[in-house]
Amino acid sequence: MLTFLLLPLYAHGCAAAVASTFAGAPSSAVYPPPNLPSDHASAFPDGPQVGYPGPTPTGDEANVIATAPAMAKIKDMWPLTNPKFVKGAGRDFDVMQHAAHLSPFNSVDSFGLDTSPQIPKSCSLKQVHLLHRHGARYPTEGAAPAAFSKKLNAAATADGGFTATKELKFLNTWTYKLGGETLTPFGRAQLFNLGVGFRVRYGELLKGFKRLPVFRTTSQNRMLESALNFAAGFFGLDYQKQYHQLITIEHGTGFNNTLNPQPNCPNGNNAIADYGKAQARKWADIYLQRTVKRMQKLIKGSSSLKFEVDDMIAMQQLCAYETVALGYSEFCGLFTKKEWEGFAYFYDLDFWYRTGPGNPAASAQGIGYVEELVSRLTQTRITECNSSLNCTNVQDDVTFPLDQPIYVDATHDTAMTEIYTAMNFTSFTAGGPLPTDHIPVNQTYSANKLSPFAANLVGQVVACGEDRNTPSHIRWILNDGVVPLTGIRGCAADKDGLCSLPEFINGMRERIKEVDYRFDCFGNYTVPSPNTIIDGRFPESLRVTSQ
Ligand SMILES: *[C@@H]1O[C@H](CO)[C@@H](O)[C@H](O)[C@H]1NC(C)=O
Ligand SMILES: *[C@@H]1O[C@H](CO)[C@@H](O)[C@H](O)[C@H]1NC(C)=O
Ligand SMILES: *[C@@H]1O[C@H](CO)[C@@H](O)[C@H](O)[C@H]1NC(C)=O
Ligand SMILES: *[C@@H]1O[C@H](CO)[C@@H](O)[C@H](O)[C@H]1NC(C)=O
Ligand SMILES: *[C@@H]1O[C@H](CO)[C@@H](O)[C@H](O)[C@H]1NC(C)=O
Ligand SMILES: *[C@@H]1O[C@H](CO)[C@@H](O)[C@H](O)[C@H]1NC(C)=O
Repeated sequence: MLTFLLLPLYAHGCAAAVASTFAGAPSSAVYPPPNLPSDHASAFPDGPQVGYPGPTPTGDEANVIATAPAMAKIKDMWPLTNPKFVKGAGRDFDVMQHAAHLSPFNSVDSFGLDTSPQIPKSCSLKQVHLLHRHGARYPTEGAAPAAFSKKLNAAATADGGFTATKELKFLNTWTYKLGGETLTPFGRAQLFNLGVGFRVRYGELLKGFKRLPVFRTTSQNRMLESALNFAAGFFGLDYQKQYHQLITIEHGTGFNNTLNPQPNCPNGNNAIADYGKAQARKWADIYLQRTVKRMQKLIKGSSSLKFEVDDMIAMQQLCAYETVALGYSEFCGLFTKKEWEGFAYFYDLDFWYRTGPGNPAASAQGIGYVEELVSRLTQTRITECNSSLNCTNVQDDVTFPLDQPIYVDATHDTAMTEIYTAMNFTSFTAGGPLPTDHIPVNQTYSANKLSPFAANLVGQVVACGEDRNTPSHIRWILNDGVVPLTGIRGCAADKDGLCSLPEFINGMRERIKEVDYRFDCFGNYTVPSPNTIIDGRFPESLRVTSQ
């Protein structure tokens, strides 16, 4: 039990309190606690042991993606409390849709096309390829919120402590309750719901399986938990018997993994990736400059607590992390609408220059998945593994089948944005390269639409026209928004986002040829200045001199 010392040091009339020494201190819990007795298992036989399940007839598969005139959209984050009070914002301003990759997935209305994910009337659905992100998680190792809490606690326990006042008053007794890396309860629900939604939309395709489906994820805890929650939603609780889960190893260098390609690509981890972070940081210095001063004024006392820009970023992150983990956060109301727009753009820049179109090693990291996609679409085995591919996996018909009507792969936000770049989804890159000193009008590269928690990219393979059996077209739907494919060589403009399947496959093969994995990942180069890269590759024209 924690008790707080609240000493009324200031007699100014304002209800000030010296920060308790617990301010910023970590607090945590483990359930079940290690000493909880659990020795009555035999008194609680499971369902099959008890028997008597009552009638269990199964109905037919749902197929709402083809049968309904319109698709239900996801615009909810229950049971999280959406912070409504934001200075200078209208009532419908949604902080949690300005939290970039820390936003919960909500349906995107449009990426520029006036169409819906429903299968066009003139087409029949033949196959789907789902690539999804894990659900909401705690901060990753070394993320800013933990550093902020340590700094706060050091100041609280130093001589004199500090007193936070007005909006910041809660900091006096605030403790750091976040875990690390793993899914939050809400994150579990996101993946379970994604699985349920996928069954209701695409369940009909299960009829085409000749053997149990193989779905893929990686070994990381939140990745595996995400995949299993998806499976529980998609298949029901006895999912173990209904499919195979391939768990590929995610563990730094030495393991090839298209669903976690960074460790395979040195330039994706070193100065070239740091360059991306630095671009975003330039913008933070601009949009948060006055915020630091405003927050500092709320700190009184003989204080060693001096706020910096990084602390403001951490506090904005804390709003998002506490909301998706604890259900509510006092940090959200501290910032203005403009500051939330600034935060969203901070991460747009980070993704653009670190794992997106403006990074010379981004396409190389995404290309392994593209090779797997072409292998599946053409039912042709991969013969050579010279990117992040793991030959042991993709050359085996058991672990990498080529005849599935439904493919499901779980991955990370970074890999997703690398894969969009490798696939040449150029509708996201209009208006780039992105400036680091202001937010451009009509900015389309928006992290909260591209890679929120539980982000999902769906490739629909369809047969359109006379022959309803032979796949003729493909289109891609990201977070329920249809993606225009006109940046891909051979894909003509189409109101429904459809591209001829042979043309799309040719375009992807071209892309595989265009992307120089060895040079972009291992080459000794620096990012060109000015950086005009918009397709995630080191410019060919500069390659000779840099090699
Ligand atoms: C490839 O995958 C297999 C099977 O999961 C694993 O044993 C092996 O270590 C992996 N190799 C690399 C280089 O990642
Ligand atoms: C990589 O493998 C593909 C076949 O999967 C091949 O077309 C390509 O030429 C190879 N690239 C290099 C650099 O070896
Ligand atoms: C792992 O990737 C490297 C580099 O692309 C490649 O040379 C190696 O053959 C791959 N290993 C496997 C098991 O696929
Ligand atoms: C932004 O988009 C609006 C609506 O599509 C358009 O009217 C306006 O000209 C665009 N502005 C710029 C600077 O592209
Ligand atoms: C990919 O996009 C770039 C421009 O961003 C273009 O130069 C290239 O030809 C495109 N490649 C393919 C195969 O679509
Ligand atoms: C990379 O290039 C720089 C500048 O050309 C050179 O100084 C450095 O030694 C090179 N590093 C390696 C590992 O080759």
